[in-house]
Amino acid sequence: MLFLASRQWSRGKRHGTFALSKANKMKTKQTIAIIGATGNMGSAISQSLAKGNYRLLLHAPHEDKLTTLVHTIKAAHPSAEVESIDCSKQASWEADIIILAVPYAAEKEVADKIREVANQKIVISIANPLNATYNGLVTDATTSAAEELQKLLPNATVIKAFNTTYAADFAQPVIDGKQVDAFVAGNNEDALQTVSDLVATAGFNPIVAGDLSVSRTLEGMQLLLIQLTMKYNYNWVAGWKVLHN
Ligand SMILES: NC(=O)c1ccc[n+]([C@@H]2O[C@H](COP(=O)([O-])OP(=O)(O)OC[C@H]3O[C@@H](n4cnc5c(N)ncnc54)[C@H](OP(=O)(O)O)[C@@H]3O)[C@@H](O)[C@H]2O)c1
Repeated sequence: MLFLASRQWSRGKRHGTFALSKANKMKTKQTIAIIGATGNMGSAISQSLAKGNYRLLLHAPHEDKLTTLVHTIKAAHPSAEVESIDCSKQASWEADIIILAVPYAAEKEVADKIREVANQKIVISIANPLNATYNGLVTDATTSAAEELQKLLPNATVIKAFNTTYAADFAQPVIDGKQVDAFVAGNNEDALQTVSDLVATAGFNPIVAGDLSVSRTLEGMQLLLIQLTMKYNYNWVAGWKVLHN
């Protein structure tokens, strides 16, 4: 567990973080498409959001893995509304929110497929554009994976989330007695609230960190966490916690 004991990074519970909003609890069920659902992050996100009041549409290239995942989720959450879908465009068409849980290198291909149907929708960027040796990012300092995705999907509302949490954290979002913080960044207040609700449903403490350009910092933070995890053997269960009054 890492502690970032700086007040500058958080506007604190009173200002920058969101509890599960009352409006969201009362609103009609939202449909979430998870593209890359069978991967480490996709399956962790799918399983944790199955606890919430969402309809989940899971897409990934291999149908057998998807079928297994749907069975696993239904066994754990019998009332969950979850189905597999073999077309990313169809899944995104039906969705209110689209989560891209694919490697950064696959995002352009996925964006090209879903562009027409992602208009006016929230698209969540969870990607960390790591290089092959984990000692840097493939994006340059003037941009981020989230901003590049926004360029690829100009009529969608891209929100950065879930990039600073490891897949294994979803099974234990409270580490050493502290709820792991999960940063959210974007340019639309309503979308930030909606995604903060998702983050809270997954068990993390959402903190709105700033506009979409703050994704550059968030992606750099995860690079650092990965380097520290390898150096100090955190066993891929680690996260950020901002300490404040
Ligand atoms: N792992 C973590 O702890 C972690 C934490 C924070 C953020 N992230 C970010 O989360 C994203 C996913 O990471 P991961 O570790 O979950 O990767 P992963 O285990 O390799 O999973 C990637 C998923 O995307 C699918 N996929 C690959 N290419 C695709 C394409 N062109 N179209 C549709 N689906 C495609 C894969 O399907 P197949 O396997 O069947 O090919 C798989 O379901 C990355 O951007 C990563 O930076 C990861």
